[in-house]
Amino acid sequence: MQQKIIILDFGSQTTQLIGRRVRELDMFCEILPYNKFPKDDPSVIGVILSGSPFSVYDESAFKINLNEIRGKYPILGICYGAQYMSYALGGKVEPAASREYGRANLMSFDHENPLFKGFDEHSQVWMSHGDTITALPEHFKVIASTDKVVNAAYQAEGEQLWGVQFHPEVFHSVQGTLLLKNFVVDICGGKQDWSAASFVDTTVAELKAQLGNDRVILGLSGGVDSSVAAVLLNKAIGKNLTCIFVDHGMLRKNEFKNVMHDYECLGLNVIGVDASEKFFKDLEGVTDPEQKRKIIGRDFIEVFDAEAHKITDAKWLAQGTIYPDRIESLNITGKTIKSHHNVGGLPEEMNLKLCEPLQWLFKDEVRRVGRQLGMPEHLITRHPFPGPGLAVRILGDITPEKVRILQDADDIFIQGLRDWGLYDQVWQAGVILLPIKSVGVMGDERTYERAVALRAVTSTDAMTADWAHLPYEFMAKVSNDIINKVRGVNRVCYDISSKPPSTIEWE
Ligand code: XMP
Repeated sequence: MQQKIIILDFGSQTTQLIGRRVRELDMFCEILPYNKFPKDDPSVIGVILSGSPFSVYDESAFKINLNEIRGKYPILGICYGAQYMSYALGGKVEPAASREYGRANLMSFDHENPLFKGFDEHSQVWMSHGDTITALPEHFKVIASTDKVVNAAYQAEGEQLWGVQFHPEVFHSVQGTLLLKNFVVDICGGKQDWSAASFVDTTVAELKAQLGNDRVILGLSGGVDSSVAAVLLNKAIGKNLTCIFVDHGMLRKNEFKNVMHDYECLGLNVIGVDASEKFFKDLEGVTDPEQKRKIIGRDFIEVFDAEAHKITDAKWLAQGTIYPDRIESLNITGKTIKSHHNVGGLPEEMNLKLCEPLQWLFKDEVRRVGRQLGMPEHLITRHPFPGPGLAVRILGDITPEKVRILQDADDIFIQGLRDWGLYDQVWQAGVILLPIKSVGVMGDERTYERAVALRAVTSTDAMTADWAHLPYEFMAKVSNDIINKVRGVNRVCYDISSKPPSTIEWE
């Protein structure tokens, strides 16, 4: 049986990161809402409680009945998780005199405690909390302190229960992964048996058993997730898989042709549908970003449906949904920033069952599985690209001519990143066509043409992002090439906004 660690989510921004770190230790884990602990699941070997934007005293703070897990599994509380266990078991949590935020060093720690096995003196940790534990419950002992935080980590004596007020999951906690390993492997007894090879073997066997001789339809987007899902399914059921790849006319330059070629080389059974005319017609004159997304989403489903209906004996719709798409994250604000368009949504009358073979994987794991399946590196390391494509990178209305300008500029930028060895250093990159014209001079001629913005970001999950600090020489070359080679553009800017407060895409 595949062992698992359960991470209970109390709404922290770093909960997913805890999950990723545990997976990096080749341990399977599941992130669940704080109040959805799975009772009677024999594969659970330990529990981690995440941080939270709440204070334990807030009326709406998330609370659980610790007796459901205490004494049954080893438990590690992180930040709020640590404060909550201490508070619930009789300790005191109060607002810190000054917010404890940023780097700190463990000035002392219990060298004998299994949680700190292998730790260096003064190990750097990352703090981020407004409250602090001022008194521990009676049977708790302090096992680490920083110069400002006495109760930086504790253990309940005689119990398998630990708490740390710092965040071992973030990069700046230098030995954070070691701490998680100590917990997951040494304390919980994790066998570290989660690997790409084992995933492929078990999933292919499961898909064979689940799908039998049924016919399956899958929507390909050219992106990593749907491509890996297709190759995995192809390995399991071969010709019973039919893939549909819709060209809405707003893909990157030559992308449709190149990706179709890749898919065919992979032996996939793919139907390519050029529906660009329909999309351009329906988008004519539309300038509102949300409206554009809605039209593209609707048209996409129509085109996909029409194709899918031709496969009359299909029983399943497969999707490249990955774990972060599914995690029922606790959105405290309840606000939608941008509506994301998803493939699928076939009408109910088709009666298709859903098959999501990557639903447990993080993005980096999808890439590892792709490599395990022998897929070409350029398909695996491809940057994320939004479903509505260049439509959300053309500010204002969309015309084939604007798409042409943007495709040419984008192609120079992306090819440049590859040539300079920078492509793999950024999370994603692209060009935005601005709805303004500016004056320039070319030769002796005055020009009055479009401006474009280059966008390149670093990120780990697209939830937060920083602008990529690309070399000036590179930007100079790209700017020069775009202005000289792309008819209709005479000015290039670089977007230096981070997310938040900006977003990665401009629309
Ligand atoms: P934002 O702009 O919200 O983007 O910071 C975060 C990530 O999501 C991608 N993105 C989309 N993907 N449909 C998609 O499939 C969409 O409508 C969409 N909007 C943004 C974006 O490229 C980035 O990777």
